Amino acid sequence: MQSMEVIGVYPQGLEEEGAKELQSLGAKSVRPFNRTVAFQADLSCFYRLHLQARLPFRFLREIARFQCNGPESLYKSVQSAFDWERWLHPSMSFRVDVTGTSHGLTHTHFTALQVKNALVDLQRSLWLKRSDIKLVDPDLCLHLHLSRSGAVLSLDGSSRSLHRRGYRAAMGLAPLKENLAAGLIQKTGWDGTFPLVDPLCGSGTLLIEAVSCFLSLPAGLKRSFLFEAWPDFDQNLWEEEKNRAKSKISLEKQIPAVIGCEQEPDIARQAKTNVAAAGLEKFITIQNTHFSEIVLPEKPGFIVCNPPYGKRIGANEDLKFLYQELGNFIKTNASGWQFWLLNGNRELSREIGMKSSLRFAISNGGIDCRWLKYLVN
Ligand SMILES: C[S@@+](CC[C@H](N)C(=O)[O-])C[C@H]1O[C@@H](n2cnc3c(N)ncnc32)[C@H](O)[C@@H]1O
Repeated sequence: MQSMEVIGVYPQGLEEEGAKELQSLGAKSVRPFNRTVAFQADLSCFYRLHLQARLPFRFLREIARFQCNGPESLYKSVQSAFDWERWLHPSMSFRVDVTGTSHGLTHTHFTALQVKNALVDLQRSLWLKRSDIKLVDPDLCLHLHLSRSGAVLSLDGSSRSLHRRGYRAAMGLAPLKENLAAGLIQKTGWDGTFPLVDPLCGSGTLLIEAVSCFLSLPAGLKRSFLFEAWPDFDQNLWEEEKNRAKSKISLEKQIPAVIGCEQEPDIARQAKTNVAAAGLEKFITIQNTHFSEIVLPEKPGFIVCNPPYGKRIGANEDLKFLYQELGNFIKTNASGWQFWLLNGNRELSREIGMKSSLRFAISNGGIDCRWLKYLVN
C-alpha cells in the first residue's frame, strides 16, 4: 500500500509522547519537531491514527511540495500541484489554513486568499462554477505550510480538532483539552495499577482520559472525519480499522479507585454528565465537596490536578490560600502518594510548600505551564 508523508500537530511539550504513540500505532520514520511530528503512514495506519491516537490536534496528509517565490508563483504552483478535478468539485465547500511565511507571503490571511483564488479560478475554467468557502465544517480542509525550504500543501483529515472526542458536552471553568489531559497522564506513568484522584476535577477531563486510555477506548470512535469523503476513501479498510479498534476495548479490566472532587455543584454535575457520556460511570466516582473532605484510598496512588492559576501574579490572595490548603491536605493525608500539579504561575505553586522532584514544560492553550511531580513523604 502506498505510503504518505504526514504531519501530526501537538501541544508544545507533548511531541516526544506523540512520537511514541505514533510508533506504537504503526507509523514509520517518526521524527518529532517543535509542536509537530513528521512520519510516514499508509492508508490503514492513517485511519488507525485518527481512531486511536489520543495526543494530536490534527493530522495533515501531504499532497504536494513546491518552491514558492511569491504570490504569483504560489498561485500557479497550487493550480498544477494536485488532481483538483478529482478532489475538489465545485459542489464541495473548502477552507484554507496557512502557517509560516516566505518571500512576498508574510501574511497568512493574504496567502490563504491567494490559494483560494488559484483554486476557484481553476474550477471556473473547468466547470464554470466554483466552490463555496466554509470556515466551519467544510467538505475539504487544505493546509499550506510555508518556510525557507518551500511550500507544503496538505489535506487535514479532520476539520475539527481531534481533541474533541465527543463525550464532553459540558465544560466547567477552564477545562483542559482532552489531548493535553491524555498527554499529562501519560507523563505520570499511571498504568491502572494504583488509585487515581483529582481533587479539583472540574469537568473531569484528566480522569476520563486516564481511564479511557487504560481501557483502550478509541479516542475517535464517536466522531466523523473529512477523509471519509475523500475520493480515495477505502470503506473496507476503514471498517477493518474500526473493528480492530473496538476489539481492543477491555471494559472487564480490574481498575483501582478513580475519584474526582469538585466543590461547585453545577460543575460537579457536568463532570458526572461527561463521565456518563464517555461510558465510564462504573469506573469514575465524582464527589461534590471541598477537596479536604476526600478520604483517600488506603493504597497510595497518584493525585493529579490543575487548580486555577489566576491572571496576575501575586494578585490573588484566595488562590494563595487554596494552594496552601492543597499542600497541607497532601502533606497530611497522602504519605506515599505521587502528586502531580499543572501550574502556570510559579508564585502560586510555591505556596504548596513542597519541592518538586520532576518538572515538564508544557503549553496549555498558549500558557507556559509546568507539570510538576512531588513525591509525598
Ligand atoms: C482549572 S479548573 C480544573 C479543570 C479541569 N482539569 C477540567 O479539565 O475541566 C479548577 C476546578 O477546581 C474547582 N475547585 C476550586 N476550589 C476547590 C476546592 N477547594 N475543592 C474542590 N474543587 C475546587 C473549581 O470549581 C474548578 O472547577
